[in-house]
Amino acid sequence: MQFQWYPGHMAKARKAMQEDVKLVDVIVELVDARVPYSSKNPDIDTLANGKARVLLMNKYDLADTRITDEWARYYEDKGYFVTKVNSKNGKGIKEVNGVIQKACAEKIERNRRRGIINRPLRAMAAGIPNVGKSTFINSFAGKACTKTGNKPGVTKGKQWIRLNKNVELLDTPGILWPKFEDQQTGLKLAFTGAIKDELYNIYELSRLLTGFLNGNYPDAISSYYGIEVSGTGNEAEIIKDIAECRGCIKSGAEPDLDKAAKLLIDDFRAGKLGRITLEKPLTDI
Ligand code: G4P
Repeated sequence: MQFQWYPGHMAKARKAMQEDVKLVDVIVELVDARVPYSSKNPDIDTLANGKARVLLMNKYDLADTRITDEWARYYEDKGYFVTKVNSKNGKGIKEVNGVIQKACAEKIERNRRRGIINRPLRAMAAGIPNVGKSTFINSFAGKACTKTGNKPGVTKGKQWIRLNKNVELLDTPGILWPKFEDQQTGLKLAFTGAIKDELYNIYELSRLLTGFLNGNYPDAISSYYGIEVSGTGNEAEIIKDIAECRGCIKSGAEPDLDKAAKLLIDDFRAGKLGRITLEKPLTDI
């Protein structure tokens, strides 16, 4: 399957990120805990330009706990300050403030030596589309925050959300583009919904996901749909069984394979098939 990304969007997103990075002390980068490598754009290393780095393993509620912990260690070894969050229900969000302080310890100390105390740290969230940036900002900002900047009569500037006396967050996240360094990366991003569904064939995608699940989480499909799954190599058969057991039938009593394929993808994305991670850390990444 071929995936494409549009260079025009990419150039615009990159430019906006470059401008915003200049304004902050720390970048809070979100990755999808189900694909912590494929959902991370390596260009951010250049864009970040020496700023403190926090990495949030977002959507960890959908990911395999053991592998998420392995990935957290993997990125910690690379110098990130890592924490797991579920931006949707707020779990892990209150720890983020402390992680930001730790990541900026040097900056805070430098300020202190210069006699600058109580200057709030400025942070921005960044990540590829659909990774959960807006959900995170809403959850992190909560209700108790106040917006600063863009006051009437003042030159139009950036909007900052004052989270507490220590941290201000830019209210618009940095958008990074997904990377397509190989077909596998594109495929994993398609499984999670980071790439628009119109860009690929849903039946083919579902067949490939079934193959992955059979090889790595052999009980996931059978226990959720209550169908028998024996071994690998029978993906087409499994999708047909899902169609039949879920009543995805076309006129003429034919199984509606596209509908069943979509159902499987949606159920996977919603976490109904269990906590599943699509890639493991390798030392050579
Ligand atoms: P973006 O700004 O990075 O593009 O992403 P956005 O916040 O719009 O989130 C994309 C989808 O991911 C949303 O689902 C959101 O609810 C979901 N999401 C964000 N963080 C988490 C998380 O930690 N766990 C889980 N399980 N989901 C998360 P949606 O289907 O587009 O919307 P909705 O049906 O949830 O409203």
